[in-house]
Amino acid sequence: MYTDCRVVLSSDHAAIQLRQAIADHIFARGCEVVDIGPATPESTHYPKHGEAAARRVASGDCRFGIVLCGTGQGIMMAANKVKGIRCGVCADTYSARMLRQHENANMLSLGARVIGEGLALDIVDAFLNASFEGGRHATRVDMITALEQ
Ligand code: RB5
Repeated sequence: MYTDCRVVLSSDHAAIQLRQAIADHIFARGCEVVDIGPATPESTHYPKHGEAAARRVASGDCRFGIVLCGTGQGIMMAANKVKGIRCGVCADTYSARMLRQHENANMLSLGARVIGEGLALDIVDAFLNASFEGGRHATRVDMITALEQ
């Protein structure tokens, strides 16, 4: 069971099924899920979906965002262009935990053509169950934020 967990989900066409599996998984663990699509598998452009999810997080509407595309890379890049967003691609649970503990990430990106559903759900759990450690890591995160100016 996660805490403080209203999560926006978005993807491109490459990740519709995995996005649904993640939505079901985190809903079952008590998250409020804001799935902003797309609902159908027609080819689409990941930047607009990454941006839309990122704006929900940056505005404070959602605590976290999880975005997906084929590799997770393109939609991560788009999300990170929105001020206040710290999004990383993960293909392992250690990185997902560190992404929260050290970078205080507010978004996670996954590659639906890179990892299977079981690992993806473990990565989501690692990310949502971890907490920011602060201290020296806060100094570094502040330095990242300063780059936005
Ligand atoms: C779409 O075919 C693909 O380019 C996209 O899902 C993603 O992998 C980009 O990073």
